[in-house]
This record gives sequence, structure tokens and C-alpha cells, in this order.
Amino acid sequence: MKQQIKSRDRVVKHGEVFTSDREVNNMLLLVKDEVERPESTFLEPACGDGNFLIEILKRKLDVISVYKRSQLEYEKWCFICASSLYGVEIMLDNVCDCRKRLSDYTIKVYRNIYKKKANKDFEEVIKFIFEKNILHGDALTLLKSDGEPIRFSEWKLITGSKVKRRDYYLSELLDPSIKKINDEDKLGILSEPVAVYPAVSFMKVIEYV
Ligand SMILES: C[S@@+](CC[C@H](N)C(=O)[O-])C[C@H]1O[C@@H](n2cnc3c(N)ncnc32)[C@H](O)[C@@H]1O
Repeated sequence: MKQQIKSRDRVVKHGEVFTSDREVNNMLLLVKDEVERPESTFLEPACGDGNFLIEILKRKLDVISVYKRSQLEYEKWCFICASSLYGVEIMLDNVCDCRKRLSDYTIKVYRNIYKKKANKDFEEVIKFIFEKNILHGDALTLLKSDGEPIRFSEWKLITGSKVKRRDYYLSELLDPSIKKINDEDKLGILSEPVAVYPAVSFMKVIEYV
């Protein structure tokens, strides 16, 4: 069984007690429908090494296995599953562990399906997405470890396999005075993006760091 505590010092300083698998699974049952929707967005604000995110990822990847006959279609859905998961964590070792855990799991499932046909470029895209979505910062001050405001990218599939990336400050996403709209069951954001990137194939998002 996984250790819930790394050190007493970390428990005292950062409240670092990881949630047990049983509790994670019971809590995810409360939002079962959302967890099984590949595009539903989750933010774990003090994510540790990703105990919730990994279980959500597993459930989403199970759902998209129906697309595995077409590798391109599967890759697109896999991109959607990965790019809708976000985390913030104050301890750098946890951030690195979380990114690696999510990437390794996604790539393991992908390689199990496509074996020698697995595309290394797609695997790099998956690693890139988790680098961007799992951030080293403080969920209370909403600042990254470098002092800059935390900003997250929205990765929105538009036509075919093209993705529109827009970056938003987390402070604005959490601000209740900024309206959010529900547009055809997709959450729309009315705050101004900090950056808008050209629409590119999901295989090319890595070109815009
Ligand atoms: C109780 S643990 C939970 C970790 C994980 N969510 C889980 O359920 O296993 C709290 C985590 O929050 C992190 N943490 C503490 N203060 C934080 C802050 N201000 N911003 C972001 N992360 C923080 C700790 O390092 C620790 O990993």
C-alpha cells in the first residue's frame, strides 16, 4: 500500500498527508458521470503527486478505449483526456512525481494498444501537456514558484484535429464576479485570455511553449 506520509516535517509545514485509494475512489463515485466524460475538466488545487488526477485519468482512458481501432482518433481523445486535467502543488518533488505519474500511465496504456506503432511524437505531446497543466505554485496566493501569477491553458478541440489554446489567469477563473457561461454543455469563459495561440493540430501544440 502507498505511504500517506513522507515525513513529519512535511506534515507539519505543508499538511502533506496523501489521500488513501479507498477515499479517492469513494469520492470519485460521487461525481461518476463527470469522471467518465473525457472532456470534463478537473483541477486539483493541492494535488500532491496526483492521487485524484491519476484515478480520474484511468477512468477517462477506459472510456475512450472504444476509439482504439483508429489510432488518430484514439490519439485525439487521449489528448482530450490528458489536457482537461490540471493541478497546482507547492512542493517541487510532488509536482515532478505527479507529471511523471500521469504521463507514464497515459503512455503505458497507449503503448499497450499500439505496440510498435506507438508514435513517439504523440508521447512527447502528452508529456508537454502535463508539464503545462501541473504547475509548481501556491494555491492560496495563486502565484507560481517564480512569483508570476498562475495561468492555465485551455486546450479546445475545434474542427477536425485542430486545437485552440488560450491561457487564463487562475485568479480570474476563480473570481465569482467574472461570469462563466454554459454553452451547449461546455463551460465557456468570459474573462479575457492572457494569450491566444494559433489553431494547430493537437500533434503540433508543442511548437508554442
Ligand atoms: C493533504 S495533501 C493532499 C495531496 C493530494 N491532493 C491527495 O489527496 O493525496 C496536501 C498537499 O498540498 C500541498 N500544499 C500545501 N499547501 C499548499 C499550497 N498553498 N498550494 C499548493 N499546494 C499546497 C502539500 O505539499 C501536499 O502535497
